[in-house]
Amino acid sequence: MVFHGNRAKIVFYRGSRFLVYPGVYEPAEDTFLLADNLEFRSGERVLELGTGCGLLSILAAKAGARVVATDINPVALECARDNAVEHGVAGSIDFRLGDLFGPVRGESFDLLVFNPPYLPSEDGERSSDPVELAWDGGKDGRKVLDRFLREFPHHLKPEGRAFFVQSSLSNVFQTKQMLEANNFKFKALEKKLFFERLYLFICFRS
Ligand SMILES: C[S@@+](CC[C@H](N)C(=O)[O-])C[C@H]1O[C@@H](n2cnc3c(N)ncnc32)[C@H](O)[C@@H]1O
Repeated sequence: MVFHGNRAKIVFYRGSRFLVYPGVYEPAEDTFLLADNLEFRSGERVLELGTGCGLLSILAAKAGARVVATDINPVALECARDNAVEHGVAGSIDFRLGDLFGPVRGESFDLLVFNPPYLPSEDGERSSDPVELAWDGGKDGRKVLDRFLREFPHHLKPEGRAFFVQSSLSNVFQTKQMLEANNFKFKALEKKLFFERLYLFICFRS
């Protein structure tokens, strides 16, 4: 927390405090939709991709899970690690830097969690700002989501489950088709926002 401390934002979830350093995604409706619906089991192996400030991974660790938390943004990992220290669970979370499943090659988990960049953007809008990269899903909003959907079955144990979110602006139908093609069953919970609907997908093997 050291040098970011005085510029960090503070976000509360159910009375718990999380610091959000500059350049790190600030937890929002999508984060809270996941947080409100995730069920963690003590002792299980959890992978959170794109942990941001670490809120979801910290909830998992507090419930007794053994967590791997990744991000492509090194500042996010630093922020998440400092929050984990504050919450007394740093020993239960393994923080790894990298792109999607790159940091967990050959590993599988009981629970996968991902709040990906899922909003469509114009090509011209693309920037290297890490906060923009946290929501920028490319032209159709599916640049990262489609890679996740193709790869996650290889990292999920046979009885495992995957939770992820996306927007109505990034082709929910295509997500359903990709899950069905991989023989996954799913529930899709819907939350209406001002300009879009958010979908929380909860997936199991058929
Ligand atoms: C929408 S934010 C979600 C952050 C946090 N999980 C939450 O729910 O508040 C997306 C996060 O994924 C990270 N990210 C984006 N692309 C990624 C990739 N290809 N691999 C790993 N992390 C990625 C971003 O840096 C960002 O922290």
